[in-house]
Amino acid sequence: MIYIKNSKEIDAMYKSGQIVAQMHKELRDFIKPGITTGEIDKFCEKFIRSQGGIPAQIGYQGYPYATCTSVNDVICHGFPSDQVLKEGDLITVDTVVEYEGFMGDSAWSYKVGEVSDKVNKLMDITKECLYLGIKEAVIGNRLGDIGHVIQQHAEKNGFSVVREFTGHGIGRSMHEDPMVLHYGQSGRGQRLQEGMVITIEPMINTGDWRSKIDEDGWTARTKDGSLSCQYEHTLAITKDGPRVLTIQDGETI
Ligand code: MF3
Ligand code: CO
Repeated sequence: MIYIKNSKEIDAMYKSGQIVAQMHKELRDFIKPGITTGEIDKFCEKFIRSQGGIPAQIGYQGYPYATCTSVNDVICHGFPSDQVLKEGDLITVDTVVEYEGFMGDSAWSYKVGEVSDKVNKLMDITKECLYLGIKEAVIGNRLGDIGHVIQQHAEKNGFSVVREFTGHGIGRSMHEDPMVLHYGQSGRGQRLQEGMVITIEPMINTGDWRSKIDEDGWTARTKDGSLSCQYEHTLAITKDGPRVLTIQDGETI
């Protein structure tokens, strides 16, 4: 069942989205060689609470932390820990904030110091995949149109699209219908309607798309040890096109 949001509800969701967006802006300077993923998590949790937000991932299906910190071959749901980041690493920080009853969800990838050409290319292509997907999020299109452009762009560049984790509807709950696949065929799937709010969050690998889960039951890694990157926005389908609720200051899509 898809919950359609009116413009007041979408405005409210923009507020939670903007707490996440501000948090990511703060992280640009915070993430550098020598800090730990646990320190990043604490920094984020503190920031979210300072804005009156609730870190909605804590306790969600038993997830223990405010953020997911996914380094190098980790696709998503990496546990913050005492792992020290080193020059050349690639890290994705993902969080959900609840504010006045609504959720905002955004993941962003960061380079740690200088990274290889390969990492730079993976980051560029993954962000382009997100933006191409967002541009398809218009009334009358179908979910398959979003998945299709993302898959095309990733594979054309020699990368692969993770299948096991998807985007989703979002609102008063973190995960609502529909499921938003990052692969597929154009013209297929659920038609997009005004007032739908979804996440698009492609996870793109340099190698094979398959994943495995660590003993902690959460951390998802590439099976072949290749690198994985992710960018995620929360957006509303409106008459004026996609409205990106987690857009960051200075970001142009
Ligand atoms: N933010 C993630 C998403 O995009 C959710 C993480 S699951 C959690 O769907 F358990 F960590 F919260
Ligand atoms: Co997320």
